[in-house]
Amino acid sequence: MAKAIYPGSFDPITYGHINIIKRAAKIFDELYVVVLHNINKKYFFSLDERINITKESLKDFKNIKVESYDGLLVDYAKEKNINVIIRGLRAVSDFEYELQLANANRSLNPNVEILFLMTDTEYSFISSTIVKEVAKFGGNVSQWVPKNVEDAIIKKIGNNNV
Ligand code: PNS
Repeated sequence: MAKAIYPGSFDPITYGHINIIKRAAKIFDELYVVVLHNINKKYFFSLDERINITKESLKDFKNIKVESYDGLLVDYAKEKNINVIIRGLRAVSDFEYELQLANANRSLNPNVEILFLMTDTEYSFISSTIVKEVAKFGGNVSQWVPKNVEDAIIKKIGNNNV
């Protein structure tokens, strides 16, 4: 059975992520969407919130499992015995960071292959950062994230009094 991992911060998940997930789930029998920690990011949602929101957003997909991991991505891959990691590329600006990440991961574990899917153009400008910024200023983000994500952002903003 062909398996792959789609890792990310998912703070929160957007239709851009879901675009990649849908397409990867067609290529692989089983796709593990794993919520991880990016040391360079200060998170808006807690890890538990990110997991729950991601699970809810993907509940209709049959061959997708949502998990979290508190460690190196390559160690998660080894534990799961999965050698394929999927990442999305939206624009050239993503490339440098992704190249660094891919090379570091392959240096840590040469058995891992990182496959890139180009995000469909209609989602190519969407990022979790933009979604949060627009929502904080009262803008409509319903075209960029599922309803449960929009609700969670609005609730969080209300709680934080931003
Ligand atoms: O959605 P993001 O923030 O671009 O995802 C980055 C992520 C979480 C995939 C990356 O930071 C990661 O793999 N973190 C887990 C810890 C790890 O393995 N870091 C070393 C990568 S060289």
